[in-house]
Amino acid sequence: MAQILFVNGPNLNMLKIRETEHYGTQSLEELNAELTAWADQAGVEVEFFQSNHEGELVDKIQHAYQKADFIIINPGAYTHYSIAIYDALKTVQIPFIEVHLSNIYAREDFRAQSLFSPLAAGGIFGLGALGYKLALKAAGEILKESAKERKQGEP
Ligand code: DQA
Repeated sequence: MAQILFVNGPNLNMLKIRETEHYGTQSLEELNAELTAWADQAGVEVEFFQSNHEGELVDKIQHAYQKADFIIINPGAYTHYSIAIYDALKTVQIPFIEVHLSNIYAREDFRAQSLFSPLAAGGIFGLGALGYKLALKAAGEILKESAKERKQGEP
């Protein structure tokens, strides 16, 4: 079964408490429980990881090498400046979708730049928790499509 890794960066463990006008009223645990139900329906396996530490995020992405088929990542504030996480994603060559709960283009100027977007298979921003679910659905479809193409290429 295809493996999808969700990676959430700093302060995303504080969902439900943190600036609810931007980040909503659902906790990360509640969101992950919903994503698990969506994953069952999509026939994919999911793993969830959150850290407030850049090095831990880099370690997790490195450990996903040749294990995870897809990553869905919200790097939090690291979106705007972590070359280390960018390099880790480039190293492991795992396709990923970048998710932001808020519309990063409609807030402070420093949020309007993502280091990750040029590397991403795609991105979703401003749709709140729905963004993670849509990303999961998209990842499932992309993986199904590439499995079909691989099969067609077989002798
Ligand atoms: C965020 C946007 C970032 O600018 C911010 O630092 C976050 C969350 C979002 O999901 O909208 O921590 O990635």
